Amino acid sequence: MCGIIGYSGPKNPLPILINGLSRLEYRGYDSSGIAILDGANLIVEKKEGKLQVLKDHLEGKHFNGNIGVGHTRWATHGVPSDLNAHPHTDNKKEFAIIHNGIIENYSELKDELVNKGFNFTSETDTEVVAVELSSKWTGNLLQTVTNVAKNLKGTFALVVTTTKEPNKIVAGRMMSPLVLGVGDEEVFLASDSAAILEHTNKMVFLENGDFVEIIDGTYKIFDINLNEIKREVQDIDWEISEAEKSGYEHFMYKEIIEQPEMIEKTLSGRLVENSIGIPIQLNEVRNFEKIWIVACGTAYHAGLFGKDLFEKVLGVPVSVELASEFRYREPIVGNKDLGIVISQSGETMDTIAATELLKENGAHVLALVNVVGSSLARMSDSVMYLHVGPEIGVASTKAYLGMLVAQLVLAKHWDIENKLNITFEEIKNIPKLVKESLECETEIINIAKGISKKNDIYFIGRGLDYALAAEGALKLKEISYLHAEALAAGELKHGTLALIEEGTPVIVTASQSHLLDKTTSNVQEVKARGAFVIAVGDDNSKKMEKISDQFISLPNAHSLLSTIISIIPLQLIAYHVAKLNGESIDQPRNLAKSVTVE
Ligand code: F6R
Repeated sequence: MCGIIGYSGPKNPLPILINGLSRLEYRGYDSSGIAILDGANLIVEKKEGKLQVLKDHLEGKHFNGNIGVGHTRWATHGVPSDLNAHPHTDNKKEFAIIHNGIIENYSELKDELVNKGFNFTSETDTEVVAVELSSKWTGNLLQTVTNVAKNLKGTFALVVTTTKEPNKIVAGRMMSPLVLGVGDEEVFLASDSAAILEHTNKMVFLENGDFVEIIDGTYKIFDINLNEIKREVQDIDWEISEAEKSGYEHFMYKEIIEQPEMIEKTLSGRLVENSIGIPIQLNEVRNFEKIWIVACGTAYHAGLFGKDLFEKVLGVPVSVELASEFRYREPIVGNKDLGIVISQSGETMDTIAATELLKENGAHVLALVNVVGSSLARMSDSVMYLHVGPEIGVASTKAYLGMLVAQLVLAKHWDIENKLNITFEEIKNIPKLVKESLECETEIINIAKGISKKNDIYFIGRGLDYALAAEGALKLKEISYLHAEALAAGELKHGTLALIEEGTPVIVTASQSHLLDKTTSNVQEVKARGAFVIAVGDDNSKKMEKISDQFISLPNAHSLLSTIISIIPLQLIAYHVAKLNGESIDQPRNLAKSVTVE
């Protein structure tokens, strides 16, 4: 949420900032802005709307200077507007600041500053920090920023420049992500390493409480009391092409299409017995008495898939929890428990808080994350990376698939009695199965035409198919804005069946052969009320094919793999419905990728 970019070095900052913002736009897209420092001249340009509005506004403009910061906003305090857009400045326009996060005590600070005679032009919490910096100026930017930060409550990644020390940028991090890119006599700052990958793959992931002072393309890191700290410079092996559209119309589409290749990477090196690619070995995992899978949104849906697998293989109870609920409960977690936290970004605030809770109560935490060096990866006891490359589309697709596959690989690795009845060879075949499943696209486009103008769409399934239904409905909702609801098929008759009428689309997946008869009966129930049924299955689900109005046929596979590939048509349905309706697919309204606020 909110994208931050910063530059200090010999080059003209403007194109670097604009490029970086383009790569960060998925984090927030209601307004954007830049500040460039040219000696005592502080240039601030900001505009409400998508980044293109700012780009148009800056067309043909040229600014001197070697220091710049840029921001793309996802509104928390105050509506999207030019005035609320970042960067924010103090009353004398000597400080420019960009911020990701929420300053919880901003209103108290603002009252004090107003009483002292300072003015405010925006409704944001961030402007308060800009004015605080000016009112508490000590003569040194780093010292002033850390002094001000001591009084801030909440979360932040802050980046500050000032005309008073025009060769410096000072940035600090508390809960909101901030990465330093280390180039040749130049330093970059970003909320996400993918934004600066085109310049360098050498990154320093700042920790909570770190402050960095950047002077003329060099940097030093300090704690809030100005003790210098050394942080490791890491090489990130993501390719820049992975963070680009590469000719595709939308990132989401590219990310769906590239899934076979990406899943190959998730699997690579891990599909051998005693694989070193698996962070927790069976003898360790056997000592755990309970497993908590904790995540949000799509990652939570992926966790529902893992529950059945781990329970079967390890014979211990597994509870799948929404991180936003879990963190405010008093769950009975102990030091014999394993927490599996799942996240694409590794920066989701609720998942981080839930991880802290697990750790405080003595659980061992294994993180399944995609973003290398992310907060969750660093705070967990063990990490298994998904390796699906940067995911830019707000609607998660390839990361979800990576989460399913990573959990299957983990379960297989621990399954010495072969309770899952699946071979390594079958698992290795997933990329091929995903590729074949993508061949249903032409059929999906026709289906999408039939449902794109409907108001309500239901997704049903039993067992692992219910987990899929939840994800299929979420995908459709978030990018097409149609009302979609997922139901455990057996629950229909307990209430929701009342909503089924002539022509209501019901999408059903039938990957679980042992539940096929039961699900088929539920399909009969909705058919009897006039539903238009779209079923996803394979040769084993002929019964379903017979009674459905449209049938999407997938390759035959082991039932666990059938579940995994059944998400492909659901992703494509969401994509094509949104496309037909002309929606903003990569940047759906009200949403942003990486939810770093509560
Ligand atoms: C939906 C989606 C979100 C995320 C959720 C958690 O397509 O992407 O529901 O899954 O915000 O994000 P991560 O996985 O980054 O923790």
